[in-house]
Amino acid sequence: MPSTIDEIRTALETRLNVARDAQDIRNAQIEYLGKKGTVTALLKQISGVAEDQRRQFGEQVNALKQWAAQAIEQRLSNLSSTARRYDIDFSLPGQLMPAGKKHILTQVEEEVESVFLSMGFDIEEGPEIEEEYYNFEALNIPADHPARDMQDTFYLAPGMLLRTHTSPIQVRTMKRENPPIRMIATGRCYRRDAVDASHTPVFTQVEGLVIDKGITFADLKGVLQEFVRGVFGSSINVKLLPSFFPFVEPGAETAISCPICGGKGCPTCKNSGWIEMGGSGMVHQNVLREVGYDTSIYQGFAFGWGIERIAMIKYGIRDIRMFYDNDLDFLGQF
Ligand code: FA5
Repeated sequence: MPSTIDEIRTALETRLNVARDAQDIRNAQIEYLGKKGTVTALLKQISGVAEDQRRQFGEQVNALKQWAAQAIEQRLSNLSSTARRYDIDFSLPGQLMPAGKKHILTQVEEEVESVFLSMGFDIEEGPEIEEEYYNFEALNIPADHPARDMQDTFYLAPGMLLRTHTSPIQVRTMKRENPPIRMIATGRCYRRDAVDASHTPVFTQVEGLVIDKGITFADLKGVLQEFVRGVFGSSINVKLLPSFFPFVEPGAETAISCPICGGKGCPTCKNSGWIEMGGSGMVHQNVLREVGYDTSIYQGFAFGWGIERIAMIKYGIRDIRMFYDNDLDFLGQF
């Protein structure tokens, strides 16, 4: 039996010498002193040993137990204090943590914002759960107006809805501040639109608004031209086509020369050389009056474009659903 005790002691000693970290040492502690441990098994044998040898054996086993407990404690305290606290083995190679990145739509949103910041615009925000008043009435779209059908709406409670466009932020900004105003706002919008390659029920818009004395249609075109060149490159041109939005007069659909074919005609621009990007126009006098501005002093322009549309044209993405499929192979390219 003494030789067994000596063997156990030697084995534990070797084990502790080669232990690499606190976890290794704790494993040894369990193997030797745990419920089913080697030393514990010896302790249980004491009562079965012949009476004349029991006392001596008992003393030896207890001494072994005490020594083992001390040796383990000693070995633990020899580990560097940091490694012990965190159970880290600094000699192991590090684990590669995959780095996340911003979603392509966030990147485009930030790029658009930086172009407008460089032109001296402020960035405003508004709520996605919006009052019907700001989304429609204040924008010259009364309850019975057919223009409401242009934007199929998710209504929540009476008088409350999910905003269908970022234009209510125009009204909120004008009610809060006096001219001059130069602002843009980006954010999510919601419509009960069927999903197809260019429509989703949740999408993102960028809204722009400028109010001051003597603002003209030429200012609108100049700002949009600057915006488009900042995002798509210096060779891209802007064209304004007559269109109707109740909150602007005159209103215009905005098209840019196709960045993919350089305006020559291709499948993306349907061989026209131009791609429609969103609405714009001079702020309607009814809207200016609604927010309490003197229309004999102040004029302004506004525009609202889809961020998904900008991203699709800029990066040649054919289907809007790609943005929302959470396919990391697709998103990882940008
Ligand atoms: C508007 O939303 C107007 N508020 C824009 C505006 C602002 C006009 C200021 C004048 C002055 P429209 O419904 O056309 O307009 O939407 C503008 C852009 O939002 C579209 O060109 C398109 O790029 C994007 N858009 C609209 N609905 C969806 C949809 N369901 N999915 C993806 N993008 C959409």
